[in-house]
Amino acid sequence: MAQFIQLGVNIDHVATLRQARGTRYPDPVEAARLAENAGADSITVHLREDRRHIQERDVRLLHSVLQTRMNLEMAASNEMLKFACELQPQDCCLVPEHRQELTTEGGLDVCVQHKSLASVCAQLMDAGVRVALFIDPDQEQIEAAASLRVSVVELHAGRYADATDSRVQAEELHRLREATQLALQRRLEVHAGHGLHYHNVIPVAAIPGVTELNIGHAIVSRALMVGLTTAVMEMKQLVRDARSL
Ligand code: PXP
Repeated sequence: MAQFIQLGVNIDHVATLRQARGTRYPDPVEAARLAENAGADSITVHLREDRRHIQERDVRLLHSVLQTRMNLEMAASNEMLKFACELQPQDCCLVPEHRQELTTEGGLDVCVQHKSLASVCAQLMDAGVRVALFIDPDQEQIEAAASLRVSVVELHAGRYADATDSRVQAEELHRLREATQLALQRRLEVHAGHGLHYHNVIPVAAIPGVTELNIGHAIVSRALMVGLTTAVMEMKQLVRDARSL
């Protein structure tokens, strides 16, 4: 099974370290350059409402220097919609956002938010942005995403990644596989992300039809030990090799 799979590197946590001290370093732009040179196919940033890591200035700078693609993760809010329509990144991934959460918890409820998401997606698509919806690997969510005519769904891999029991992990992997098949039938491109790590990425990367993985925390954490170039290269190798298993 040799199908191309891309690695999007999320550099939010480079900015987390900078914001912790209010310094000018470490610089997410420098990190993005290193990640691209090491094989990242896109750079993902999540501009959160509380601006806890990536700042607007970072996103604008990155947009002007990236050699690959920018994948801007954002809440479906008016503020972010205005920002994204003006910036026009290549990709926008709409995610749920709650102030108190440590990280994105769960996917969007596209069924419940269908009407408001329809308007946000339409405006982004009109601005020439490819839209992805971050959803749990559930049939209803996929059908709802397909009805919005977006190009991509990013499947939330968190439950798979967080599973401590091998039976539960196998069930969650099965859900990801089934969701991928349904999404492909609905002509959606399938990405996956959240919680993926060097020790658990291979089975997800090996799912036929998944064309992109977005990975952040594990890569930035590994970079502290081995450097960002090596950390990205190691992940890229794992993801690529999963396709030839
Ligand atoms: N994909 C989406 C939609 C996310 O919200 C996140 C976290 O910002 C990621 C991927 C990356 O998750 P992690 O940092 O756990 O690799």
